[in-house]
Amino acid sequence: METPLILPTDKQVELDEGYQKTHKNFDELLPTLPTRKGWWMHQLFQYQGFWLSAFGIRGIMLVHDHFKPRPTDIIVATSPKCGTTWLKALVFSIINRDSYDFSDHPLSKASHQDLMILLELHIHGSGSTSLVDGLASPRVISTHIPYSLFPERMTEGSSPCRFVYLCRDPKDVLVSKWHFSNKVRPEELPPLTLDEAFESFCQGVSHEGPFWDHVLGYWKASLESPEKVLFFKYEDVKKQPWGCVRKVAEFLGVPFSEEEENKGVVGEIVKLCSFEKMSSLDVNKRDTRNRERPVSNSDFFRKGEVRDWVNHLSPQMAEKLDQITEQKLQGTGLSFH
Ligand code: A3P
Repeated sequence: METPLILPTDKQVELDEGYQKTHKNFDELLPTLPTRKGWWMHQLFQYQGFWLSAFGIRGIMLVHDHFKPRPTDIIVATSPKCGTTWLKALVFSIINRDSYDFSDHPLSKASHQDLMILLELHIHGSGSTSLVDGLASPRVISTHIPYSLFPERMTEGSSPCRFVYLCRDPKDVLVSKWHFSNKVRPEELPPLTLDEAFESFCQGVSHEGPFWDHVLGYWKASLESPEKVLFFKYEDVKKQPWGCVRKVAEFLGVPFSEEEENKGVVGEIVKLCSFEKMSSLDVNKRDTRNRERPVSNSDFFRKGEVRDWVNHLSPQMAEKLDQITEQKLQGTGLSFH
């Protein structure tokens, strides 16, 4: 199984009526939506219960109207700052483990931003879905789209897509998002204070927020359709990376053979995707920012630790966030203790 490494070129094509209609609907809808200040963009818009960027909403509308799921599609889903980069690397190396040598692996050389598309961003491509349609199967696609915002043909029982989801203790998500925002905020905006970030996060106003609603959408789907949605917590993957790698492989229908186990392939994947390895790579240390891609590879690596929140949040802040989390997750069977 091989996933294309180089994304197809973004060709400008004449848009047919269907696409034109989606873009027109978006243009008419956007000015009617409630807005709040963004963290790393000027504005967030509230769309179907979630706070999203304008490009995210356009992307979701394109997915809704035009995305054609395939039985082999694998969707790597997260709320931002829950470890997307890590999960993408793990799934990429599990799926492509027969295609590459671990000592000379694309993950050690290529930008992780090039190894897997972000659905709601790349579906814009030429304004149509041609870029995403042009990817060879099996398509491994990452996304921050909330589960309830996918079209039913992707989430209903008989749909062919499979989702692997990673979430994280909201206290660490808040701290990670705050740091990230201040790295990538437009220069004309003043730095975001931790107090501002905290208040917004608690009110649910952050990219793809409310955070808890994002998590619960995937959590409930994983309970209802475990064959469709595989759910992980960052903290558990940190504790048991080998177990997680095996679970993902089984879920995707490519379990490790005895021979692979004996050869230590699981350990190779864990090592290749570890924070220590990935963050020390030249390609992830360099500032790769440019006009087309304003976020550098290095912006996705900071500490990669569990409970770094203790170094930033006051006990009162932590208590308030824990209370919100407890209340939101009550009765769902999910917790971050
Ligand atoms: P911190 O800011 O807490 O260090 P995302 O990939 O969703 O943008 O999330 C970024 C967070 O995941 C950052 O957390 C980053 O350091 C951490 N991260 C990136 N790569 C990782 C890896 N290979 N293993 C563990 N954590 C990783």
